[in-house]
Order: sequence, then C-alpha cells, then structure tokens
Amino acid sequence: MAENHLSPDDLILPIFVIEGTGRREPIDSLPGVERRSIDLLPDLAREARALGIPALAVFPAIDADRKSADGAMATDPDGLACRAARALKDAAPELGIIADVALDPYTSHGHDGLLVDGDVDNDSTIEVLKKQALVLARAGVDVVAPSDMMDGRVGAIRDALDQEGLQQIAIMAYAAKYASAFYGPFRDAVKSKGALKGDKRTYQMDSANTDEAIREVALDLAEGADMLMVKPGTPYLDVLHRVKTTFNAPTFVYQVSGEYAALKAAADRGWLDWEATLLETLMGFKRAGADGILTYAALDVARLLNR
Ligand code: PBG
Repeated sequence: MAENHLSPDDLILPIFVIEGTGRREPIDSLPGVERRSIDLLPDLAREARALGIPALAVFPAIDADRKSADGAMATDPDGLACRAARALKDAAPELGIIADVALDPYTSHGHDGLLVDGDVDNDSTIEVLKKQALVLARAGVDVVAPSDMMDGRVGAIRDALDQEGLQQIAIMAYAAKYASAFYGPFRDAVKSKGALKGDKRTYQMDSANTDEAIREVALDLAEGADMLMVKPGTPYLDVLHRVKTTFNAPTFVYQVSGEYAALKAAADRGWLDWEATLLETLMGFKRAGADGILTYAALDVARLLNR
C-alpha cells in the first residue's frame, strides 16, 4: 500500500576531493565522511555504481595556499575538480558526474563570487562562472550545478556551453538555496569555514520566504535549467513540495551537511536510530515530491536498500 518508494536510483553521493595520493582525511563535523585523493576515487565510483547509485557530486577541498581573492583556480582546466572528473569518468563512464559551479572552495574570503567593495558582485562573478562551467564540462562532467545564486547565471552558462558545442551538458540549478546555518560542516569539509567573512545573505535566500523561491525557480527554468534543487532539505519540505507541484520539473533536494551531522551525532550517542531516522527523513523528501536526493549517507542508504 506504500504510495512512495525509496531506491538507490534516487540517490546522489556528494564527495570531497583533496590533492595527493593515498590520502583519506576524516571530517570532524561530518562523521563517516572523508576527503579523498583522486587515486582513491575509481574504487569509490565503482562501489557507488555497484550499489545502484546513478551519480556523484564532486566538491574540491582546496588548500589555503591555492585560494585567492579572485578564486582563479576555479577556471584551471587542470584544477582538482577537473582532474577528479576525468578520473571518475575513466573508472565508471556510466556514472553521472555533477560538479558545483561557484567560487567558494577557491576564494580566500569563502564567498561564492567576486567581492567588489566588500559585497559579492553579481555580473562580474557570472563571467568567471561561465569559464568554470566550461572547464568542468570539457573535463567530462555531465551536469553543471550552479550553486552560487547569482541572478542570470543559468542563462549565461547555457549560452556559453551551447556556443562551445556542449549542448549535451545539463544544468542542475540550485534554484531555491537558502542562507542556512546548516551548511557549517560543509564549509569545514571544503576548508572555507575559517575564511568566510560575513555571511551569504546578500545572494542566498531568506528562510522566511517561499514566494521568492517560486520566482527564483521560474527564472532558472526560463533561462534553461534542466533540473532544479531545493536546499537545505528537511527545514524546507514545504518549498520542495511547492516547487514540484508548481513546475512539474525534475526536482532535487539536498540533505545538507548540518542535517546529516545532526542525525549522525544523535545516533552516535544512541539517542536516535541511524537507519530508521535516515530512511524516514529521505522518505519525507520523496513524499514532498523529490525526484532525487543528494545525501552524504548515499552509500549507507543504498546498502540498506539492497539488503
Ligand atoms: C557552495 C555550496 C555550499 C553547499 C553546497 N555548495 C555551501 C554554501 O553555500 O555555503 C552546502 C552543502 C552542505 O552543507 O552540505 N556554493
């Protein structure tokens, strides 16, 4: 009688990548998640594929000495994210590779764009994001995912890809992305936490708003987004539901780092049942209308569902 079902096919696994070889670094605030060097990614890709997970999302953790105010490493065709994408594609060609388009892993100030007079500047940032999307697409990424929340970036990236003959590359727009306190552990993971000056409220959304989310999504779709994302997940189930029922487009949800960490921390203390709360949370996303879920627990969940 179940109206909704959860399957490994619903899951996208976010992974953190570091320089070096044979390196695995635990992330204190994300227990069970590691940063891995590129040589360890092929095994991970094959494991994900064997479990039925259709796609990975790659996040580079850039060393502080390679970050700069203009985030120049973001457009380097031999940068960490591009090399990771190539390694993943070689190892598991049928596995989808998604990569964020945003400058925050690369900027010394931790913001997603370029600063002008202390504020993130929308239009000059878009010029860099276009270049970033192009190097990622040429490295073998299947889906570029602008997570920066600049206005007009989806259309600009679509045009840039099309002009370069990259029509087949899809865009997953972080369309309704809230300025959330639940991103803390992620910023640890990509080493931008200490660096971040101020907050991201001039470009990410106010948690008080849902009509604004609908306007953001409508713009991204009109500009050519193939898929939409709502983020974070659990605190914004109403937004997810409204986006799905308003647009009937492929709609994804991100169970962000703080959501994962909160469940995991309670489970590690024996206060919550990890497997049961995880599955219940993810089923909530399906019920609300998600077509796919990004979760750091994707491997765990897929193993559970395959049992
Ligand atoms: C950056 C980005 C963030 C996340 C994904 N891409 C953080 C932020 O906007 O500060 C957060 C994901 C998570 O918390 O798991 N553009």
